[in-house]
Amino acid sequence: MARTSPAVANDAGAWHAELLVTADDLPRSELVGRASRDAAADVLATIDRPRLTWGAGAMRPEGLVAVCNDVILNGRDRVVELGSGVSTILLARLLTRRRPRGGWRLAAVEHDARWAQRVSDQLDSEHLRRHVTVVHAPLVPHRLAAADLGWYDEAAVVAGLDAVLRGDLIDLVVVDGPPAYAAGHGLARYPALPVLQHRLAPGATIVLDDIDRPGEQEVLRRWESNIGLSFHRLPEPARVAIATNSRTDRPAGHSSAAMH
Ligand SMILES: C[S@@+](CC[C@H](N)C(=O)[O-])C[C@H]1O[C@@H](n2cnc3c(N)ncnc32)[C@H](O)[C@@H]1O
Repeated sequence: MARTSPAVANDAGAWHAELLVTADDLPRSELVGRASRDAAADVLATIDRPRLTWGAGAMRPEGLVAVCNDVILNGRDRVVELGSGVSTILLARLLTRRRPRGGWRLAAVEHDARWAQRVSDQLDSEHLRRHVTVVHAPLVPHRLAAADLGWYDEAAVVAGLDAVLRGDLIDLVVVDGPPAYAAGHGLARYPALPVLQHRLAPGATIVLDDIDRPGEQEVLRRWESNIGLSFHRLPEPARVAIATNSRTDRPAGHSSAAMH
């Protein structure tokens, strides 16, 4: 594990110390310019008074940096996350600082009502709630889920995203939920793209976390063959895969305003 990777830390001081990532700790890739790395490192270093731990289930800093870079380099401002946590706070902080001209919105879909409340409390404490909605959607049986696995209550997801996006398309989606670490849960995240693909803007970025696990690797294979996307895999320590939505047509039912 890289020394900058967060361990499970219940002590707020230790957790804060682990956020002190410098630009030199961050991964280099063809996408990542020095200015972007510095900006992302700055964001990672600035949380105070945390209510959330950076747990073992959270995205690695290096994976989050790849997401932050996409926000910075591609001007993302209609963002959806599946699975909330410190990533939600960091993305909200980054978007707040950038103040995109057309405004911004972030929807974080969360299955656990108590965790949703904690994330919301942290957002409140940082006055970030105006543009961020934590969409509570419990896990229920789903037509696209593997046997014995559920997915987010699709009606709750649809209602939440409709309210947040108001007809706009998603330009960045981060798939880091539902939890998929338990044995037999490897395909838990598969429904995300089939459900959300008609809401993705042409050129939108799709990110899947935890690609070190066999289940997420199979999810990627299925997305690539069923949906026709091509993912760039960033191995450890980032352990995320990133794709660009190659569709150029506009999905039915979305206005031109939705295309930015
Ligand atoms: C893979 S985690 C999502 C993590 C989030 N995207 C992040 O990077 O911070 C999936 C689920 O685990 C739960 N979770 C996230 N962080 C947690 C923590 N520190 N402690 C307990 N549960 C957590 C939430 O219910 C979340 O939806």
